[in-house]
Amino acid sequence: MATRKICIHGIHDPVLQKIDGFDVAVTTTKRDELRTAIGIEDVEAMILDLDADDAFDVIIETLEVKPHLAIVGVTGSNDVSRIIHAQRVGCRQFASRPLDVRDLITALQGALQDVPAGVRSGDVESKTFAVVGSTGGAGATTLSCYLSMALAEVAKTTALVDVDFEFGMVAKAWDLSPRHTIFDLCQFDEFDRQNVEDVMIELPSGVSVLPRPAGIQQGQEIDESSLKEIIGLLQTWFPYVVLDIPRRLDARTGCAIEMCDKLLIVCQQTVAGVLNAGRLTDGLLEFGMSLDQIEFVINRYNTKIHSVTADQLEKRVNKKPIGLVPNHYKSVGAASDLGEPVTTRNPVRKAIADIAAALSGDSSIGSGSRWVSSLGIGG
Ligand SMILES: Nc1ncnc2c1ncn2[C@@H]1O[C@H](COP(=O)(O)OP(=O)(O)O)[C@@H](O)[C@H]1O
Ligand SMILES: [Mg+2]
Repeated sequence: MATRKICIHGIHDPVLQKIDGFDVAVTTTKRDELRTAIGIEDVEAMILDLDADDAFDVIIETLEVKPHLAIVGVTGSNDVSRIIHAQRVGCRQFASRPLDVRDLITALQGALQDVPAGVRSGDVESKTFAVVGSTGGAGATTLSCYLSMALAEVAKTTALVDVDFEFGMVAKAWDLSPRHTIFDLCQFDEFDRQNVEDVMIELPSGVSVLPRPAGIQQGQEIDESSLKEIIGLLQTWFPYVVLDIPRRLDARTGCAIEMCDKLLIVCQQTVAGVLNAGRLTDGLLEFGMSLDQIEFVINRYNTKIHSVTADQLEKRVNKKPIGLVPNHYKSVGAASDLGEPVTTRNPVRKAIADIAAALSGDSSIGSGSRWVSSLGIGG
């Protein structure tokens, strides 16, 4: 799994190159460099020189940009009043000079433990869900789209990234004709929130779509480091980020999976669906993912099918599916062809809203339509 990204300000010491388990994403000396860097990089902690004259101002300014950043101050002084002051402005842990790498790691771990659960380095609590199908056409894009809408219902806003750079259909699901795409974003040497917002298409539902590139060739030019940077940036201001990922295990999907809190594997009630869900899960567990980070959804669920059941999937992957989404071909197929989502009363949308509620822990999601859809009425 990914190491935790940190930033170092105003210190140059060879010890800082050896901090196991942490990735020094950026090193700065000037305050404006630091401000820019932490706006872009998805850093979780900062080590700074507490003996510098402007150290307290640096801490205050930094926390204005990233209120949950875990700060470790390095000092060679025994001035207790200075330590108290540093603590009051938001420095969480201290390390003394000369620097000792083990001491520094302990301080970083301690500082990070104080970050409230679920809070990333940015200014919002953010959760990322990646969605993949266990077979082609299993319903990953359908789930991604309705999941985003359900999450945006309570969170007001949700980012949906079409990571299927070759054949992604997210923009089509809303009949959008994007002028710019993730490819244009990757043409910048560096990008910030403004660049990303300029490319995303915000829908009335609160879902902001980051569309796939226009051509296949463009899609192949996007590398995983750009994707990682973009997702990291989205996580700093969207409460939810949904990633519709293709059924291809390359560096880019690997990066998307690494950056998600939960991976949803969408599976149909077929032998291939169950076998591939099992095979994918085995592979992910071998790569170091835990079963807690994976959820299973059976799409186009049909109680009349007895040959392949939800129990069989559970037996294969050792986990109960988080949701069973009914088959409603007439409405869902027509809606995706027309680029117009089904209504909130639709049983497919209702079942996906229930999944959103389970994932987010917010039971109010979709509750307005629950009694109607439970009767099976819906467009
Ligand atoms: N629950 C469902 N009931 C009926 N049709 C569905 C359902 N989910 C998806 N579909 C249809 O199945 C097709 C494939 O779905 P899609 O979401 O594009 O799959 P994937 O992204 O996994 O390739 C689409 O035409 C879609 O409208
Ligand atoms: Mg798809």
